[in-house]
Amino acid sequence: MKLRDLSGINLRGKYVLLRDDFNVQIVDGKITEGFRIERSMPTIDFLRNAGARVAIVSHLGRPKGVRDMKYSLRGVAEYMKLPLIEDCLDKSFLANMKDGDVVLLENVRFYPGEETNDKEFARTLADGFDLFVNDAFAVSHRAHASTVGVTEFLPSYAGMLLNSEIENITRVMENPKHPVLSIVAGSKVSTKIGVLRALIKLSDTVIVGGALGTTFNYAMGAPVGNSLYEPDQKENALSIMEYARENNCRFLIPLDKGVGPEFKIDAPRTDKDINDILPDDVIIDGGPKTAARDVDEIGRAATVIWNGTVGMAEWMPTWSHGSFAIARAIAENTRNGKLHSIVGGGDTVAALDACGVMDDITYVSTGGGAFLEFIEGRELPGIKVLEA
Ligand code: 3PG
Repeated sequence: MKLRDLSGINLRGKYVLLRDDFNVQIVDGKITEGFRIERSMPTIDFLRNAGARVAIVSHLGRPKGVRDMKYSLRGVAEYMKLPLIEDCLDKSFLANMKDGDVVLLENVRFYPGEETNDKEFARTLADGFDLFVNDAFAVSHRAHASTVGVTEFLPSYAGMLLNSEIENITRVMENPKHPVLSIVAGSKVSTKIGVLRALIKLSDTVIVGGALGTTFNYAMGAPVGNSLYEPDQKENALSIMEYARENNCRFLIPLDKGVGPEFKIDAPRTDKDINDILPDDVIIDGGPKTAARDVDEIGRAATVIWNGTVGMAEWMPTWSHGSFAIARAIAENTRNGKLHSIVGGGDTVAALDACGVMDDITYVSTGGGAFLEFIEGRELPGIKVLEA
């Protein structure tokens, strides 16, 4: 896939509308994890140094088309030391911009036209700019006004992060070193059927964990207590396991679980074999046998693709064991040169960060849903419109 990029474009004095994904976690107005922002900096710096006049457009959360200040990008603007333009459709600031200036526009999802990809909204958003750059891989699976709509009105290019995401993920998907191990967790089978099938085709082994894994345990007849799982996905789960058999892919489900009496951070933990779970037990993490098996599998792989934590990894330390064991094993084997690792998804990246192993991973994607859809081989609308 070849996208239009910025090479050879004269940017000096040009008004650039830059789409970034600054959908980051903010607690009490402060950013707790700046990974997406850091990864967006090369393109911002490139544009700034080339003398462009840059307005960054982004969303934060899902304010559903209303100006709900809970979703303001002010915290991001402060973190980045950028002026915040309080209304993304107010272009009066453009007249005062100098070459190399960068501003951040307030949350584009404060307008309903963003998510409906309203043509008039997109035209107004694009108004006053000379060109559009999309560097927001993480939201490129959404056909919104700021990812797709504006490209009808402005010459449009891919930024460096977007290109790097595509290159790195494509390299693994097209030519992975075997054995390939994919670890997929998270909450819903229903949202992961497509990606599981794609990964089964690609991998020698697939491990499922988290609530997703629990649904597979249930489908195989294990008791799952009072836990999160999808009873209506039993047939889908069985057909995915059949698909793995047909494709000679080992498909591994959880062996044991960390359970508590209720779904709470301070619930006392007991580890139980998957067949010993009682009706009142709530599964909150993978168990120690499962973690040991996962670490062993990682040790035998040449490529690992990981998306989704296998428990409530943010409920440290009681409920983070399963996810942290995976994170540390992937990091250690990658550090030792035995593994090519690729990790994506907000919670998963947060788990890497909490373990302090982010820098050991071969490639960490900024995408969550976009990462999964790209792996699945779906056409992402925000990327499609940039094809050369
Ligand atoms: C993400 O965090 O995955 C992206 O920013 C997309 O957010 P959305 O799922 O709210 O569209």
